[in-house]
Parts: sequence; C-alpha cells; structure tokens
Amino acid sequence: MNKRTVKDLDVKGKKVLVRVDFNVPLSKTEKGVISDDSRIKAALPTIDYLLENGAKVILISHLGRPKGEANPEFSLSPVAKRLEEIYGDNFHFFDEDEVVNDKVKEEVNALKEGEIALLQNTRYDKQETKNGEEFAAKLASLADLYVNDAFGTSHRAHASNVGVASKLPSAVGFLIQKEIETMGKALEDPERPFVAILGGAKVSDKIGVIENLITKVDSILIGGGMAYTFLKAQGKEIGKSLLEEDKMEMSLKLLEKAKENNVKIYLPKDVVIADKIESGVDTQIVDIDNIPTDKEALDIGPKTAKEYAEVVKNAKTVVWNGPMGVFEIDEFANGTNEVAKALADSDAITIVGGGDSALAIEKAGLKDKITHVSTGGGASLEFLEGKVLPGIDSIDDKEE
Ligand code: 3PG
Repeated sequence: MNKRTVKDLDVKGKKVLVRVDFNVPLSKTEKGVISDDSRIKAALPTIDYLLENGAKVILISHLGRPKGEANPEFSLSPVAKRLEEIYGDNFHFFDEDEVVNDKVKEEVNALKEGEIALLQNTRYDKQETKNGEEFAAKLASLADLYVNDAFGTSHRAHASNVGVASKLPSAVGFLIQKEIETMGKALEDPERPFVAILGGAKVSDKIGVIENLITKVDSILIGGGMAYTFLKAQGKEIGKSLLEEDKMEMSLKLLEKAKENNVKIYLPKDVVIADKIESGVDTQIVDIDNIPTDKEALDIGPKTAKEYAEVVKNAKTVVWNGPMGVFEIDEFANGTNEVAKALADSDAITIVGGGDSALAIEKAGLKDKITHVSTGGGASLEFLEGKVLPGIDSIDDKEE
C-alpha cells in the first residue's frame, strides 16, 4: 500500500481528527442499544495508538441516514455510551445539533494529550453527503492532522472523508490498512486454488465482482437468489424462484467468460423449496431439475452445500460475499451456515466481505476462525469489483 499510515505521522500533542465508521446496528427492541459493536472494536487499535502517543483525538462518524438535519433517532449517543465504558473520564461527547459550532471548537481546544472526543453525527449537516466545501473546512479547522479509518464508508465521497482529507496532512488508520492489505493480497497475489463464493439476492449486484474475479480465481461457487437467473438462462425450470429476466443474457456471457478463463463455475445441484418466505413454512429438498412451477427455491440443498464445502476444503484462498439462501429464516439458513462452517474449518486464507455474510459468520459464532471479516458492506463489494475507493484515494501518498 502506498498510502501514508498513522505510524508515519508525528502525533504527539497534536489534535488528530479521526474518521471512523461507527454506523453500527441498533437494537430494534431496546432503544439506544447497539446490537453489534464490531465496528467500534475494529477502530480501537488506531484510537489507542494515537492516545498512547500523546495525541488529542477527535472522532467523527455518521450513523444511518438522517438526511442532513439533527434527528435524535440517529444520535451517536449509544456509541458515546460505549466509548465512555472503554475510555472513562478521558472520553467526552460533544453532543451538538450543529456538528461543529463555537462551543465544540472551544471544547476541542481544551482537550489534553491522551483525551478523546466524539462529535455528533456528521450527516446532521446537509453538506456532508454532498462533500460540501464549507463543512469540510469546518471539520478541518478543528485539527492539525487527519486520519481516515472508516473503511466501511470509503466507497463514499463525503465531506468527512474526501473533503477534509484535502485540507489537512492525512493518513489511513490500522483498520483501513488491514482491510486493503488482506483483500488486496488475495486479489493481486493469491495462494491457489483461489475460490470465490458469491451469493445474495441479485445477479445485478454481483456482476461487477464476477467480472473482476473471473480473471483471478480458479472457481466460483454461486448460491443465493442470484443462482436462479443463471439456472434459468441455462434452460432450467426455476418455478417461482427469484429471476432477473433482463440479466439472463449477461449470466450466459459470464459463464462463457469463465470458460475462456478456465474458471470453474459451480451452481446449485439441489435446493430447499417452499410456498413462501416465512418462518415455520413446510419445506422440501429437491434436485435442481425438479423445482415445481408453483414453488420457490430459497436455499441451496445439502448435496450442494457438501460439494461447496469440499471445494473450500481444497482451497488456499477463499473470498465469500453474499448468503446462500434466506438465512434470516431458520428453514433456509442451512446452506449459509454450512458454507460458514467450511470457511471456519479451512486452513486457507479466508476473507468474508461485510454485510450479510459477515452477519451470518457473527451469528454462527465463527468470526474468530476467519482470517478477515471485513467491516465494510458496500465498500468491500466495491473493493472486490476492483474499483478505486475515494475515501482511501484521497489520503496522502507515502513519501518516497
Ligand atoms: C455502511 O454501513 O455500509 C457504511 O457505513 C455506509 O453507509 P451508507 O450506505 O449509509 O453510506
């Protein structure tokens, strides 16, 4: 990686503005309770390094999509509570509806070395998502240095990541460094066999990833709703399963391209079918040639799961993005769970793209057995598509 990292900065006594991605999921039943604090934990190495080296740390993040105005529903106060538990009296929450006002400026100037503050949701300001010059300048005016460790937001070009980076000496934090080094190595110089497992509902969401991976991997295992457009394009009866009719031709092109690149594509050989997507519904396992016209396939079947696990067992690098079925419902979670277990049991370098597959790994309690679970949903997908991530691109390059 040619970007300056936090270790390249002299931070002693400096005010360091740190963009983190604390867009954490909140409990639907208990108000103000964080249901998964992985993104907070993932940012701690950078924060701790800065504090231990005498910086005054000012954290900024978005939470949800409050549409440019203060809204208590999107307050960062649950995050502040969690940070207070970690940093005690050294932590301060500058809870202002106007994210950077005179009061915040004064309080930031009063911070001592080793102290840490969190500002309110950057998306309370309508300029944030437009990468507005004025808001970026306000944020930059608070600090001497800027560190971006918000990997999950790096596919966005907003004021708090791209705008502010042009106004202060900048570096990436340890999380971004780890994300791009681990995933970058897999893409550029993988240990082989290199296997990609792709799932999720839509082919349209994964075309970019398949196109990028098709010249790099040895095999692609396909599951989830997206599999049925491929199967239909090959002339199979898929009943009421998910279909993107306008992507059938593209699916055939991708299969052709895979052949040209000697990439083996695996599609489900059996599936779990039901009348509807509902917990407690009757299910049946059928071979792929036997999907009735009035049923919907909602998970890969056990024969397919076993075959995919076998391919994973023989791989040296595995990248997984997207569930194999409707894993939120127990009846259709087996395929995703089996793939999760196969990755956990494997000695290969295993990388799980964020979002749903990361959630499935977390739910199965297997996170510790995976080489790298990305903290980015959209960001990891765009990285796997080979796209430039503006939040990282905007950071200063390392000096030669
Ligand atoms: C995410 O959760 O993917 C990031 O925090 C970005 O959030 P956004 O999709 O609302 O920009």
